[in-house]
Amino acid sequence: MNGEIELIRGDITTLGCDAIVNAANSSLLGGGGVDGAIHRVAGPELLAECRALGGCEPGGAKLTAGYRLPARFVIHTVGPIFGDGTADEDETLRDCYANSLALAASAGIESIAFPAISTGAYGFPIERATRIAIAAAKRWLDGERPPRRIIFCCFSETDRQVYARLLGDSA
Ligand code: APR
Repeated sequence: MNGEIELIRGDITTLGCDAIVNAANSSLLGGGGVDGAIHRVAGPELLAECRALGGCEPGGAKLTAGYRLPARFVIHTVGPIFGDGTADEDETLRDCYANSLALAASAGIESIAFPAISTGAYGFPIERATRIAIAAAKRWLDGERPPRRIIFCCFSETDRQVYARLLGDSA
């Protein structure tokens, strides 16, 4: 694996890495949770740029500037709403990570921070989601393209402990 995976507990809006990932909805016009926090800190210019993007389909990813955030860029991705796990939720979540990383590569982004996409309002079970997130990050770091620094930013200590356990298992 050429690169590194970092795990932190904190508020993703405070991170000064090249890009932070937003767990948005398909309108890209803001919401609650991490989406609300990112828009609050970034300021109104972020919403103005998002309006011009015309939304995003689940699993997709779109890039904007970070504005008043310390991060230069925001990558907006739309996670799956978890139902009973039989409607390709896993594949859509995997696409969120893979497409966000590929978009970051195209923008020359070297460091990227992810929240636990879909595990809040969208109800994706944290352990199942974490396995997908870690596998996607490791798969990316087996390749040659940046970003080479992938940060998982957990908002709660409970979530951080799940990531720590599963990262330890898959070391
Ligand atoms: N920094 C890092 N992580 C955060 C922050 C923050 N400031 N705020 C919340 N989180 C975490 C939550 O604790 C959860 O683990 O982000 C994860 C994703 O939760 P949500 O923000 O609820 O996102 P999601 O489950 O993907 O649902 C997306 O919620 O906010 C709306 O517009 C959004 O409709 C979309 C839906």
